[in-house]
Amino acid sequence: MRRRGAGVFATVALWTLLWHFTDADWWHLGLTNSMLNSVDLASSSFRERCNKLEYLIDRQKELCSLNDKILPVLGGGAKLAIDECQYQFRNSRWNCTSFPEKNSTFGAVVSIKSREAAYLSAISAASVAFTVTRACSKGELPQCSCDNKIRQKKSHKWKWGGCSEDIKYGERFSREFLDVREDPNTATGLMNLHNNEAGRRAVRSRMQRTCKCHGVSGSCSMQICWRRLPSFRQVAEGLFQRYEGASHVKFVERRRKKLRAVSPDLKKPNKTDLVYLDDSPDYCEKNETLNVLGTRGRVCNRTSQGIDGCRLLCCGRGYQTRVREVEEKCKCNFVWCCNVVCEICRYRKEEHVCN
Ligand SMILES: *[C@@H]1O[C@H](CO)[C@@H](O)[C@H](O)[C@H]1NC(C)=O
Ligand SMILES: *[C@@H]1O[C@H](CO)[C@@H](O)[C@H](O)[C@H]1NC(C)=O
Ligand SMILES: *[C@@H]1O[C@H](CO)[C@@H](O)[C@H](O)[C@H]1NC(C)=O
Ligand SMILES: *[C@@H]1O[C@H](CO)[C@@H](O)[C@H](O)[C@H]1NC(C)=O
Repeated sequence: MRRRGAGVFATVALWTLLWHFTDADWWHLGLTNSMLNSVDLASSSFRERCNKLEYLIDRQKELCSLNDKILPVLGGGAKLAIDECQYQFRNSRWNCTSFPEKNSTFGAVVSIKSREAAYLSAISAASVAFTVTRACSKGELPQCSCDNKIRQKKSHKWKWGGCSEDIKYGERFSREFLDVREDPNTATGLMNLHNNEAGRRAVRSRMQRTCKCHGVSGSCSMQICWRRLPSFRQVAEGLFQRYEGASHVKFVERRRKKLRAVSPDLKKPNKTDLVYLDDSPDYCEKNETLNVLGTRGRVCNRTSQGIDGCRLLCCGRGYQTRVREVEEKCKCNFVWCCNVVCEICRYRKEEHVCN
């Protein structure tokens, strides 16, 4: 049995241990493509495979062993989360760099319980809920399908039908798979649990009702409606907004252990807010202990006053402008039928790069 409360991300506080830790995380499923090809494996070997994944704790191995389909689904979820995180943070000093070769997918920097770590918890819980729910409605998992319990609405305009995606199942799976790692008696455990839940709510609160007309041709006298997942981009964007307004909290031990806003004049975080315990490093300079790459060499936007602007992104070190030859398809023409023929245009592109 592995240490409880180990965290979704390797959390070893002692810097000296950082290079030796073996405690890694489920995100690895998103990095190793070989894992995704488990479809044609005999049933015994996928169980073996789940058991061999040293970064899963026992309960996670059990869930992984339910059937041979779950591992590729989780792997797809981790990959989706990593890709979306990198998209959302593409203009930030910390750009969600992943280190496929390391045991901790995002490097030691996530052992700081910062707002970035909060985002990663939330998007990981969201991605598990999302991909499991999607897999259920596509019939890819034997243990779940569409949500048939959705209430029959009494209306003469529309009624439920078709396949409503079962977000409740996805959420439950996400809870069982990820929350089990967290110890609610520790500050870190409480932070991760809160952010996991915020991630799942970011999916659930964006479920959409989609309808299709029925009735005598074109009359649309009756609509059939079902509940559908939002796009994962919408979820990741919503979480990015929560990241920007994340609440700084501290651990308090009263009658019950819990997290409180660090100062009484700050808004009390609700269940959709992200919470963090530690201030972030500035991510400006390379720090190998933390696996922070720094912002030297990053392309910045000369005219922006925001975080992608040269002043903030380059941390006041200034920038250089270089001109690159770029080749691009242009003057495209449609040729009957069915080709698009383009010319290649060359032009010079100015780029500003942080010192
Ligand atoms: C990752 O973990 C494995 C076994 O748990 C270990 O052999 C390996 O050295 C670790 N790698 C790094 C970079 O820490
Ligand atoms: C939670 O707080 C955020 C602001 O931080 C607010 O936008 C949101 O509406 C609140 N949600 C609920 C359910 O109260
Ligand atoms: C890297 O970060 C750690 C932890 O914040 C700090 O102790 C160390 O001095 C930093 N190293 C460098 C080279 O800045
Ligand atoms: C993140 O920034 C580093 C430089 O700090 C760069 O090497 C890397 O390609 C960037 N990663 C992504 C996903 O944009």
